[in-house]
Amino acid sequence: MTDRGTWGSRFGFVLAAAGSAVGLGNIWGFPTQVGQGGGAAFVLLYLACIVFICFPILIAELALGRRTQTDPVGAFRAVQPNSRWWMAGAIFVAAGVGILSFYAVIAGWTLAYIWFAATGAAGSSAEEIGAFFTEFTSSGPVNLFLTFVIMAVTGGVLLGGVRSGIERMTKLMMPMLIGLLLILAARAVTLPGAAEGLAYYLRPDFSRVFDIGTVNAALGQAFFSLSLGMGTMLVYGSYLTRREGIAKAALMVVGLDTAIALLAGFIIFPSGFSIPGFDPSASGPGLIFVVLPRLFATLPGGSLFGAAFFILLTMAALTSAVSLLEVPVAHCIDAHGWPRRKAVIVMTLGTFCLAAPSALANGASRFFSALPVVGMDFQTLMITMWNNFALPIGGFLTAVFVGYVWRIDKALEELLAEQAWFPGRQLWGVLIRYACPFAIVVILVYTVLSMIG
Ligand code: PFF
Repeated sequence: MTDRGTWGSRFGFVLAAAGSAVGLGNIWGFPTQVGQGGGAAFVLLYLACIVFICFPILIAELALGRRTQTDPVGAFRAVQPNSRWWMAGAIFVAAGVGILSFYAVIAGWTLAYIWFAATGAAGSSAEEIGAFFTEFTSSGPVNLFLTFVIMAVTGGVLLGGVRSGIERMTKLMMPMLIGLLLILAARAVTLPGAAEGLAYYLRPDFSRVFDIGTVNAALGQAFFSLSLGMGTMLVYGSYLTRREGIAKAALMVVGLDTAIALLAGFIIFPSGFSIPGFDPSASGPGLIFVVLPRLFATLPGGSLFGAAFFILLTMAALTSAVSLLEVPVAHCIDAHGWPRRKAVIVMTLGTFCLAAPSALANGASRFFSALPVVGMDFQTLMITMWNNFALPIGGFLTAVFVGYVWRIDKALEELLAEQAWFPGRQLWGVLIRYACPFAIVVILVYTVLSMIG
């Protein structure tokens, strides 16, 4: 008997999946990518990727997980034994560890900013805040320590198992996070200069819509934000009982995740543009850490708001980190019969070792700038590799597997179990078999061609 579990309540799955989806990707990643992708054009592409590519694949991943009730490697094997499809599951397990290795570093930054916001240590003028961020992120030992704390807490939550750890944390965090984001957005859009920020965020420059680099980044960000293309949703689906309707749960997760990302944009861009000389594309991964402290400084009781915000963001990051680590952990439990304890400890330590270069990267930038990818900081390199390539490839493999190997009629049997609600099922089949795989291949091939051309 292994240490599997199921969700505690009917709503438990939606909570946990939303806890996985909502994280740094929404509040740190989305505005950063919008800034680098030229504003509203990126937003438009992102929404298109969510609706036409990621939402159908999310349903497919959940259905495959619930049907097979096992880890990614086992899931592919269960449907198609004696084939090489299990290797797709192996990519998923590797991606979980790879993504967490840089995710934990950024989560460490948010942890430290609880303190910085509470004490006002980051400074008050735009220059001070920017210089503070650069100095802080180049301190290797501090970053390594923060990453260790994040990994230790993530491992600790997972030791408690799927049910007690993740559900409870999300239930507490999500309403508070949304409330605080709404307050901050209300403040941000009333700042002087906000109109310029809103125009940047909402009025697309159509020449950017056809830029393949932007399209690829939007696709990668959409997969990342929904925790898709690497088996997280497959594993979470495997803890789902048949009483729960998949399509409805998926719709709720997508709605919540997208709403929170869009809301983050309504905070960052209006307040960013209220800073003289602000250039959204220049800040890279530091964008929110530079813009937000300035916003807090304009609020009465700003240090309190700031600290509360970074506490919630750290919690959101932790529920996502937990879901990332759960993929390799589930693999060790289901495929190798390890006890949960051993799986968690080994995977936590292993991921921490892999995270060390990421944590030290900013300090060691002289070394990394000697790499062939000149002009890319280390985090950007990781994001390009995992988000923009590994996740869409994972999504492509899932779509092809469900569409052609498991087949749509079998998948629909699972999706419609117990008279579950699923309008548009024919359209879903068409998207999974044709549109999703085709779109992903076209985007990736063009991206590679533009990179080498
Ligand atoms: N979706 C998370 C976020 O937006 O922060 C990140 C993530 C979690 C990506 C789990 C992938 C994953 F499997």
